[in-house]
Amino acid sequence: MKLADYKATLSFSNGKPSMELPVYQGSVGPDVVDIRKLYGQTGMFTYDPGFLSTASCQSTITYIDGDKGELLYRGYPIEQLATNCDFLETCHLLLYGNLPNASAKADFTKRVTRHTMVNEQMQFFMRGFRRDAHPMAIMTGLVGALSAFYHDSTDINNPEHREVAALRLIAKMPTLVAMAYKYSMGQPYMYPRNDLSYAGNFMHMMFATPCEDYSVNPVIERALDRIFILHADHEQNASTSTVRLCGSSGTNPFAAIAAGVACLWGPAHGGANEACLNMLEEIQASGGIAKVGHFMEQVKDKNSGVKLMGFGHRVYKNYDPRAKLMQETCREVLTELGLENDPLFKLSMALEKIALEDDYFVSRKLYPNVDFYSGIVQRAIGIPVNMFTGVFALARTVGWIAQLNEMISDPEYKIGRPRQLFSGSVTRSVPPMAQR
Ligand code: CMC
Repeated sequence: MKLADYKATLSFSNGKPSMELPVYQGSVGPDVVDIRKLYGQTGMFTYDPGFLSTASCQSTITYIDGDKGELLYRGYPIEQLATNCDFLETCHLLLYGNLPNASAKADFTKRVTRHTMVNEQMQFFMRGFRRDAHPMAIMTGLVGALSAFYHDSTDINNPEHREVAALRLIAKMPTLVAMAYKYSMGQPYMYPRNDLSYAGNFMHMMFATPCEDYSVNPVIERALDRIFILHADHEQNASTSTVRLCGSSGTNPFAAIAAGVACLWGPAHGGANEACLNMLEEIQASGGIAKVGHFMEQVKDKNSGVKLMGFGHRVYKNYDPRAKLMQETCREVLTELGLENDPLFKLSMALEKIALEDDYFVSRKLYPNVDFYSGIVQRAIGIPVNMFTGVFALARTVGWIAQLNEMISDPEYKIGRPRQLFSGSVTRSVPPMAQR
């Protein structure tokens, strides 16, 4: 850690001596107060459940300006990456810190595609699941199972081993997601095709069958690739922090990524795309646009427990830049597939319009997030609703592994071990059974 840019003084009203704390400035974003010596010098902890004011690490990968609605990967705006680059270039950027030139891109693509197959044993592992198991349950299991195949060959303290683990994960996630889908359909698995693009190969493994030729629609291929770019990283979100915390014990990196998959599943995080589409379908079934007003009343009623899924974000207090790009992709895909009048798209536009003008949402700075439109695109492409979060996991894997590798190569890295404010019983004696 660099030297302090300036100092903050912490004083107490109970007569304890005050303490000086170093403050650091990042290259952009809020300054941070370094409290690492606080416990040693005062015997006190800080209290910040939900990490509302806590920077858990130092990172150079992704930056979000929530007020401006800006997202940068290694300094590049998401809009430029989504327009001018493809997913594998974005992976290279996140992992190595720079955009590849043509030969570096060709080399990286070759190194990733060499790892697209999974061990044939994986299909037997898959058979242990019920056919109707949720794909995220399957994904948590499958990614965790990868650790068994590479445990002895993966030393996380060896940068080359970490790099191979990163390439394996990026390459194998599409194969695993497609296997989970094929298993639920009772169709044969399709082996990867390394002559196709990353997104094109995923489409092939999802939608091709051995019985017929399958050709990749370039508009859908580009849309999927954009979905992957938009979801590739998002600084210290819940699943990424989970991966970092899990990996901080020195565990197998595939196991740490499995922990990220498990965290992502929740509806407040990656599961929001599935929850959002279910919400749209429910409103549609109950009367569609005519019922939007009634639904919004429920959302605003705190006792109803109803939320407008795909809206709101811990960091963005402005339009999520990914949502804008996703809305654009949504239009392109619907037009390509002749679904311009898709009722769910119309419904989501109506919901968005009302929300953006309603004081409840305006005063709380609640805007659409990436999940508001991504479900509509994925559904139009033919991806079943319960697979949406699996597609998110596929795309976020590069962010998880880049962040994990950044943590492990940081000389200041320590096992993550938060403290607590204990408010339970003080020491007491176990009473004999007859007296309980
Ligand atoms: N619908 C209705 N009210 C909302 C919503 C929503 N979607 N989101 C936040 N609020 C209200 C919330 O009730 C609170 O109101 P009040 O101040 O009166 O108590 C206020 O807005 C602030 O919300 P919060 O829950 O304190 O904010 P948070 O930062 O803890 O939660 C969130 C962020 C994303 C979990 C939340 O906005 C939410 O649950 N949204 C819906 C789920 C969703 O779309 N998640 C995807 C996030 S983006 C993709 C990803 O990162 O995975």
